[in-house]
Amino acid sequence: MPRNTLTVTDNRTGKSYEIPITNDTIRAIDLRQIKVSEEEFGMMSYDPAFTNTVSCRSAITLVDGEKGILRYRGYPIEQLAEHYDYPRIAFLLLFGELPSPSQYSEWNQTLRRHMMVHENIKKFIDGFHYDAHPMGMLMSTIAALSTFYPDAKNTQDPERRLLQIQRLIAKVPTIAAYAYRHRSGLPYVYPEEDLSYSGNFLAMVSKRHEQRYRLNPVLERALDILFILHADHEQNCSTNAMRSVGSSQVDPYSSTAAAIAALYGPLHGGANEMVLRMLQQIATKDHVTEYIKKVKAGEVRLMGFGHRVYKNYDPRAKIIKRLSDEVFAVTGTNPLLDIALELERIALQDDYFVSRKLYPNVDFYSGLIYQAMGFTSDMFPVLFAIPRTSGWLAQWEEMHRDPEQKIARPRQIYMGPDRRDVPDAISSGKQSTASPTAEKVQRT
Ligand code: ACO
Repeated sequence: MPRNTLTVTDNRTGKSYEIPITNDTIRAIDLRQIKVSEEEFGMMSYDPAFTNTVSCRSAITLVDGEKGILRYRGYPIEQLAEHYDYPRIAFLLLFGELPSPSQYSEWNQTLRRHMMVHENIKKFIDGFHYDAHPMGMLMSTIAALSTFYPDAKNTQDPERRLLQIQRLIAKVPTIAAYAYRHRSGLPYVYPEEDLSYSGNFLAMVSKRHEQRYRLNPVLERALDILFILHADHEQNCSTNAMRSVGSSQVDPYSSTAAAIAALYGPLHGGANEMVLRMLQQIATKDHVTEYIKKVKAGEVRLMGFGHRVYKNYDPRAKIIKRLSDEVFAVTGTNPLLDIALELERIALQDDYFVSRKLYPNVDFYSGLIYQAMGFTSDMFPVLFAIPRTSGWLAQWEEMHRDPEQKIARPRQIYMGPDRRDVPDAISSGKQSTASPTAEKVQRT
């Protein structure tokens, strides 16, 4: 009769241990019983960059990287992107179900109520240098929000947590737009009550002299779809930062700022900005082969390609590629698109990329759309952070409700020197008599 356990034999002692298996995982703490002598600390698992470590149980997002599947709360991303808007998706991520009509209307009202930011936020943003990166402005200003809402410290109170979640999701686009306006030397534009979530953001970013900004419905919907696609992606680098920092029970503004910091990196949400720079650097289709040679020689990375989890075409990249046709029909095509298509064509038939299962990820085509919509490339990671805020907060809330979660604190294998005496102690004859090796601690 097969048993749902793993038998591990320690060849140092010949002892066998039976470890329970649940959901195809073993609990790392069960390894601790494996030791040569009673005084030993016990076995641990070593996993730099968490390539095979599960940090939580989550019911929010499923990514099947081999099959190229992404689902929020069980619903395929393709269906969600086709039929719904971003506020519905944020609700779904946070509360587990799509909103009923009355819940949807109440949710939108709540978000609208919280869209405004304190006037001092403007002064805060004014303090940044004229060419400050908008992601840096967003990150610091979100962190600063914690000083505006001292009640946010009360992270053990579910009602207080919900209030901060509502505030954050509503205010992030306003702060992002302010950062953009500051960068462009334009006056700040207040949010408007009767615009959609994505429409509001577009209006706050784009309004000039007109009394009322006239939204293009195709671009408004395209941005909304991009927001849906970026809303969550299970335990990625920034979500891990959100959970890890949040596990100290700090307020969610501080955790969100940490998540934004993680997203800013060129290997994560900063990749879309890097893709555009790469395409600009390649400049013409004729240079693509030469660039691919450099990638294969390990001199540069093909930005927007590859993923820790997807070993197949990223389903978000497929939707974005299709969306680009609709956007370019309004804005005119982006001349960099031809270079991107050529890069993809060559890469997908080259053994270097095929054997490593490197496919376009979400960032490969999104920048082209953002650029066609008039955004400068430094805004691309900001456009990622706006919708990801709902995913981060859904994960943060789930963590707070999970009785198994504690402050995140990995272990290490200590590789430094054994205990030793400082030169002054030796010269004064006051060195320790303890044997250094007896005190050696390998795991702390
Ligand atoms: N270009 C060229 N080679 C690559 C690339 C790439 N974009 N990505 C991975 N590889 C190669 C590596 O050199 C390595 O080759 P090797 O086995 O010969 O050493 C192999 O593929 C495995 O790569 P790792 O770096 O081990 O894969 P990892 O899972 O750690 O990295 C990552 C994933 C960071 C996304 C990587 O693919 C990458 O740097 N991509 C470019 C940046 C990017 O597009 N990031 C956005 C990811 S999506 C997101 O965060 C929203």
